[in-house]
Amino acid sequence: MRIVSGIQPTGNLHLGNYLGAIRNWVSMQDDADASGGQCLYFLADLHAISMPHDPASLGANTREMVAALVACGVDPARSILFNQAQVPQHAELQWLLSGTARMGWLNRMTQWKDKAGKNREGQSVALFTYPVLQAADVLLYNATHVPVGEDQKQHLELARDIAQKFNNDFCGDTPLFTLPEPIIPKSAARIMSLRDGTAKMSKSDPSDASRINLTDDADTIMAKIKKAKSDADALPSEIAGLEARAEAANLVGLYAAMAGCDAATVLAEYGGKGFGAFKPALGELLVEKLAPINQRFVALRQDTAALDAILRDGAQRARQLAAPTLEAVYAALGLVR
Ligand code: TRP
Repeated sequence: MRIVSGIQPTGNLHLGNYLGAIRNWVSMQDDADASGGQCLYFLADLHAISMPHDPASLGANTREMVAALVACGVDPARSILFNQAQVPQHAELQWLLSGTARMGWLNRMTQWKDKAGKNREGQSVALFTYPVLQAADVLLYNATHVPVGEDQKQHLELARDIAQKFNNDFCGDTPLFTLPEPIIPKSAARIMSLRDGTAKMSKSDPSDASRINLTDDADTIMAKIKKAKSDADALPSEIAGLEARAEAANLVGLYAAMAGCDAATVLAEYGGKGFGAFKPALGELLVEKLAPINQRFVALRQDTAALDAILRDGAQRARQLAAPTLEAVYAALGLVR
C-alpha cells in the first residue's frame, strides 16, 4: 500500500477536520505498516495559492497545520510528512501532465464550477488546473490508496483518467502510472455546525461557538456543547426519530464518532433522555478524547524550529521517492535530460 493524501493549510483546525479526514490518516498508518507500505501526507500549500491569499498567514497556517497533524497522531517517524512547496517535483509533474489533461475534463469539475461561480473569466488559471496538480500529487508517488472526503472523489477520478491516458499514449505495454483508488471512509462523519445542524462545521463561520477548535480547552468545550443548538424533546430510541431534527442528529452523530460506535448504539443508551443529560455526557467525552491532542498541539505549535525540521526531513524523503517517477515521465515524453 502506498497511501498519499493532502490537506490545504487553512489554519484553525476543528473537530470537523479531525473526524472527517485526519483521524483516518492516523489509522491508515497501521494499515500501511501491516502491509509493509508507506504513508505520505502533505500540506497542499501550492494549492492554496489558487485563491486570493495572504502570504503572511500561509506560512503560519502551514506550520500550525503540521503541529495539529502531529498532535492528532500523524507520526513523522512512520509517515512522510511534508509540504508541496519543498518538493518541486509536484509542480514539475503538473506541467508534464498538462499535456495529457483535457480542457473538457477540467470544465466538468464541480469544485471548479462551485468556486468560480458566475465569474469564470476572473478566476486564476491555478484554480482551473488545480485538479491536475492534485493528480500530480498522487501519481508522483504511485499512490495505491488516497483517503479523501466525498467532495474529492471527482478529482481522484480525474487523476485516474489522466494516468490512464498517459499510460495509453506514451507507455506502450509497460504502464508508468498506478491508478489510485480513493478511500472514502463510511465513518467519515459529516460534522455540522453547533449553531445550525444543516450547515457544515467550518472555520469560516463567523461564530466561534459553531465549532470545536483543536485549540479549545476543556472549559471552552463544555461551554460550547452546553450552548449548542438542540431542541426541547427527549432523544428518540430509534434512528428514524432523528429525521427532521438536524441539531439532535448532529449531536448524536458527534457522540458516535467520538466514541467509535454508531448512532443506534448511542440512542440505545440515551433514548428517552433529554439534552440536559445528554449534553454533559457529550461534553465530557469530547474533553476526554481531545485533551491529550490539545496539550500536544499547544506545546508543539510554538516550536517553529521543530516543525520546520519535520517538514524539511519529510520533504527530503519525498523528493527521493518522487525522482524516479519524474525521470520516467520526462523520458516517456521524449524530453532530453
Ligand atoms: N484538494 C484536496 C482538498 O481540498 C486537498 C488535496 C490536494 C489532496 N492534493 C491532494 C487530497 C492529493 C488527496 C490527494 O481536500
